[in-house]
Amino acid sequence: MSQTITNVLDLRELARRRVPRAFFEYADRGSYDEITLNANRRALEAIRLRQRVMVNVDQRNLATTILGEPVSFPLALAPTGLTGLQCGDGEILAARAAQAAGIPFCLSTMSICSIEQVRAAVEKPFWFQLYVMRDRGFTESLVQRAIAAQCNALMLTLDLQIQGQRHREIKNGLTVPPKLTLANFLDILTRPRWIWSVARGKSRSFGNLEGRIGGADNLLTLAQWIAQQFDPTLSWRDLDWLRRIWPGKLILKGILDAEDAVIAAKAGVDAIVVSNHGGRQLDGAAASIDALPRIVDAVGGRTEVLFDGGILSGQSLLKGLALGARAGLIGKAFLYGLGALGEAGVAKVIEIIRKELDVSMALTGQTDVRHVTKEILIGDR
Ligand SMILES: Cc1cc2nc3c(=O)[nH]c(=O)nc-3n(C[C@H](O)[C@H](O)[C@H](O)COP(=O)(O)O)c2cc1C
Repeated sequence: MSQTITNVLDLRELARRRVPRAFFEYADRGSYDEITLNANRRALEAIRLRQRVMVNVDQRNLATTILGEPVSFPLALAPTGLTGLQCGDGEILAARAAQAAGIPFCLSTMSICSIEQVRAAVEKPFWFQLYVMRDRGFTESLVQRAIAAQCNALMLTLDLQIQGQRHREIKNGLTVPPKLTLANFLDILTRPRWIWSVARGKSRSFGNLEGRIGGADNLLTLAQWIAQQFDPTLSWRDLDWLRRIWPGKLILKGILDAEDAVIAAKAGVDAIVVSNHGGRQLDGAAASIDALPRIVDAVGGRTEVLFDGGILSGQSLLKGLALGARAGLIGKAFLYGLGALGEAGVAKVIEIIRKELDVSMALTGQTDVRHVTKEILIGDR
């Protein structure tokens, strides 16, 4: 690409050209009319920062902790399914880029590379995201595998026991296991870099789900497979069960309502993620950033509050921190980097966001990320 890459959207454009349409749109798009998908970003954009001057901002600190662990700045890579089909070995490459940058990486249950493959290929432990399956024995085996891989936190996702419809998944014929339709096949032929990387990858199907998915002669859409496998009875009562099988740090992801946040805080979890699954589930749900302040208030410091949804820049991350989030997570942003340039692309996205955060802090007169408050925002929130 002749154009110089200066922001995350440049990498999105490159990924759009390099990743087969079915997988690019799986990453890029949302559910139903994409109202919440768009709201996430627009609500962040609508917040105005106070420009402050004549403050000595020569020395700035971005380092903080998440779940008590030091991080170079308050960002983590969100769990994303099928990451190894944005680019071969995508989960490993993203985990390496995150670890090199000193921020957490969270592996999805629906990853292409398995827990063990990622663990064997990276230096440090990572977080594991859990979907609870109807087969609790299998779910427990996933948790056991996460323990064996020394995962340092378990992130239980609460907002996808039933899948919201994503039109593009159906139109593109995305299946479990992933299989080529004729249209996909012709599209893929035009992406030689992608073919090469995926052909060399360690896995091309769901690495953690061996034995849970049918053969190529028994294809299901992703939504059908989820309906068959994920446990829609999941409720607050199941937290006790999870605590018994997972002794480590626990994060609950997908909370958007203050009442739910209070229940989570009272249950004593280590962190919650204010999230609407990147606009991929309940369409019409609030933008995460709009839900964040009320949740931070309701929780009152009893648990760490993380947030995701629409972060494509350091300015957006800064707004979330100002509204009380301990850190932000990125999904689409890092997938764009991965699809565009592999590990170097993820590293680039992290670096772009870090620098934007740093400069925006300085321009709002802030010198320490741990002390950013809503004082840096214009208007009442
Ligand atoms: C392609 C894709 C796949 C995802 N898969 C999962 C998943 O397997 N588990 C999960 O908890 N969240 C999943 N998410 C949601 C992300 O963890 C995160 O909440 C969301 O991407 C944040 O919004 P953003 O994409 O605007 O940054 C996925 C998101 C994307 C974009």
